[in-house]
Amino acid sequence: MDLKLSIDKNNVPQHVAIIMDGNGRWAKQQGEDRIFGHHEGVNSVREIVEACGEIGVKHLTLYAFSTENWNRPKEEVDALMELLVATISLETPNLNKKGVKLQVIGDIESLPKSCQDELQESINITSGNSTVTLILALSYSSKWEITHAVKEIAKQIEEGKIKSSDVTSRLIEKHLNTSQWPDPELMIRTSGEHRISNFLLWQLAYAEFYFTDTLWPDFRKQDFFKAILAYQNRERRFGKTSDQISQN
Ligand code: FPP
Repeated sequence: MDLKLSIDKNNVPQHVAIIMDGNGRWAKQQGEDRIFGHHEGVNSVREIVEACGEIGVKHLTLYAFSTENWNRPKEEVDALMELLVATISLETPNLNKKGVKLQVIGDIESLPKSCQDELQESINITSGNSTVTLILALSYSSKWEITHAVKEIAKQIEEGKIKSSDVTSRLIEKHLNTSQWPDPELMIRTSGEHRISNFLLWQLAYAEFYFTDTLWPDFRKQDFFKAILAYQNRERRFGKTSDQISQN
């Protein structure tokens, strides 16, 4: 049965964040090297972006490369960067056709120039789209992002532009990479790991977490719809009691 048919279209999360994990293990299971798993992972990315468009998820953030991933063997880092450039270049017409707007978060200046240029071109080409915003977290970590935000705010205080009493959670949010989008209501992590790994620590404060043993290259539309259905069965209380929620 197509799980999409069971989804309540009035209760679809506006923003889903995903830690795409398990490419390396998937490849090993096939007797291949890790890069093969990353290549196959691109097919899952394509399907999940499409699935978001089908059910009305407006924002999708994918953790594609963390600041810690720079510590992987050089061949793997180089292959991931090449894959990224090739994928963006190949997929941009398709993204455009499906109304997908590409955006990035993270320390983009630390990426190879070819990667920055390809990303910028795709961002420009897809800038007018509005069906789904695909946000790639690249050379991203939450501690990096929050440190960056705190430095910017401290500088403004030093320069006398604002006072320390002006620092509110809203002001901090304005200095995060994600300031223009709503916080994710749902965070999915594949491959059986139950960690948040320095991903959107601030923005996930009230998100529902969904963990699955499925490895990222095997995670396809029906797996995504299953996660959405699990989300729809959760009671989101935001610190209130269950009774208060049901009275509203
Ligand atoms: C984690 O699996 C995955 C990554 C670090 C890279 C994710 C990249 C892709 C899916 C391909 C490119 C994406 C886009 C958006 C074009 P892992 O290598 O940590 O797997 P393991 O835990 O089994 O070793």
